[in-house]
Amino acid sequence: MARHRGGRLSLPPGAGQIMDRTKSIELLNQAVGDELQALHQYMYFHFLLDDMGLAKLAGLFKQTAIEEMQHVELLAERILFLRGDVELNSSGPVNKVQEPEAMLNMAVGMEKQSAIDYNQAAKVCGENADSATKQIFEGLVADEERHFDQYDTELENIRRYGASYLALQSMQGPSEAN
Ligand SMILES: [Fe+2]
Ligand SMILES: [Fe+2]
Repeated sequence: MARHRGGRLSLPPGAGQIMDRTKSIELLNQAVGDELQALHQYMYFHFLLDDMGLAKLAGLFKQTAIEEMQHVELLAERILFLRGDVELNSSGPVNKVQEPEAMLNMAVGMEKQSAIDYNQAAKVCGENADSATKQIFEGLVADEERHFDQYDTELENIRRYGASYLALQSMQGPSEAN
């Protein structure tokens, strides 16, 4: 264990290998980029759906974008705690998908991939004895699985009730998240 002696941090031999901070910071920054891409994509969907009068689905994308932004914050805090620098670079451009069902299909794919990526990141952090970062990634997996489920439910309903489902849904009243 590290002990303070005379105001200086004294580490036993090999203590530098207790936690591979470089790998954790790299994984966290990769996740920041993915979250930024997702939040830009979902805001784009939100604007378009709102313009189409599909308030309910527009609200779901807005609420999810806000949650992805909170993920960026969580990741950034951990990067700074590990003495890394936050790279605020989106992993990719916004895809100009403009049809509601295609938007949902894309969102379902993004959430599925995020859950896979974060499960893998948690595994790597565990192997590097960085339990706190591992727990952050595990928390994100649970959130992305919930996002996946929300989008997948909308897709299921479109398949079940037909193309007019989204318009009828929006007539029920304004979305709480909008
Ligand atoms: Fe996220
Ligand atoms: Fe998500």
